[in-house]
Amino acid sequence: MFLLKDYQEAAESLRSRVTHFPKIAIILGSGLGNLADRIETEEIIPYAKIPHFMRSTATGHKGNLINGRLGGKSIWAMQGRFHYYEGYTMEQVTFPIRVLALLGVKTLIVSNAAGGINETFKVGDLMIIKDHINFLPNPLIGPNLTDFGTRFPDMTCAYDRELISLAEGIGQELGISLHKGVYVGLTGPSFETPAEYWAYGRLGGDAIGMSTTSEVIVARHAGLRVFGLSVITNEGYHFDDDFVNNGEEVIRMANLASERMGRLVEKMIERL
Ligand code: HPA
Repeated sequence: MFLLKDYQEAAESLRSRVTHFPKIAIILGSGLGNLADRIETEEIIPYAKIPHFMRSTATGHKGNLINGRLGGKSIWAMQGRFHYYEGYTMEQVTFPIRVLALLGVKTLIVSNAAGGINETFKVGDLMIIKDHINFLPNPLIGPNLTDFGTRFPDMTCAYDRELISLAEGIGQELGISLHKGVYVGLTGPSFETPAEYWAYGRLGGDAIGMSTTSEVIVARHAGLRVFGLSVITNEGYHFDDDFVNNGEEVIRMANLASERMGRLVEKMIERL
C-alpha cells in the first residue's frame, strides 16, 4: 500500500529534474504514444527512473514521462500507462495521477483505444467521453488519503463540461468529427464476447476499453478537471463468420487516428 510519502518521494524526484511545472497532463493510450511527436520535449524521464513507478509492459506503450511544451503551454505527457491486466494493483495503476497532482497539475487529458459498441461508431472515429461505467475495482478502496481528497468523492461531473464544449467547438473548426458517449472500463485482457458487447451497449455504453476509468476516479478524488477521448479501433456490434478481434490491429487503427487526435488536443491546450 502506498503512503503519502511515497507519492511525495516520486514528486520530489521529478521536481529536481525539471524546470517547468505544467498545470496540464496528458495520458497517451494504446497506439497514441506517437502523439508525443507533437510535443517540444524538454525532459524525457523513463518510468524506471521514477521512485515507485511501474514499468509499462503493454504493447504500444513506451513508458516515459515527458516534460515539454504543446500548444504553447507546458505539459506533462505520460507516454504509456499502466493497466490492471498487466498484473498491477489499482494503486499502482493510478500512482502517477497523484504524483502529478502533487506537482501542481490541475487538468488531466486522457486518451485511449476503445471498441465501439454504439452502432453508429466506425473504426477510426473519435469519441469524447461524456461519462463512464466502471467495471474495474475502485482504486480508492482502502484507507482514504485525505491529503488528496474526500472519502466519498462526487462523480456526477467526472468529465468537465467546459472542456467537452471546448473540444466540440474546436472539432467543428478543424473539421474533425467527434462522437460523444459513455466509456465502459473493464479489466480485460481478453476482448469481449459478442454477447458481452451487446450487453454493455444495453447498459448504456458506447465504447469499451481496459483503462481510463481508474485514472479518472483518482484524478477526480484529487480535484483535477478531466477530459477524455477514445479512438474507436474495432466495432463490437457486428460479427461476420470470419471476424476476430486482434490486439495488433487495434494498435494499428489507434495510430492511424492519432494525427487527428493530436491536432485536436494541441488546439485545446492552446485555448486552456
Ligand atoms: N474491448 C476492450 N478494450 C478495447 C477494445 C475492445 O473491443 N478495443 C480497444 N480496446
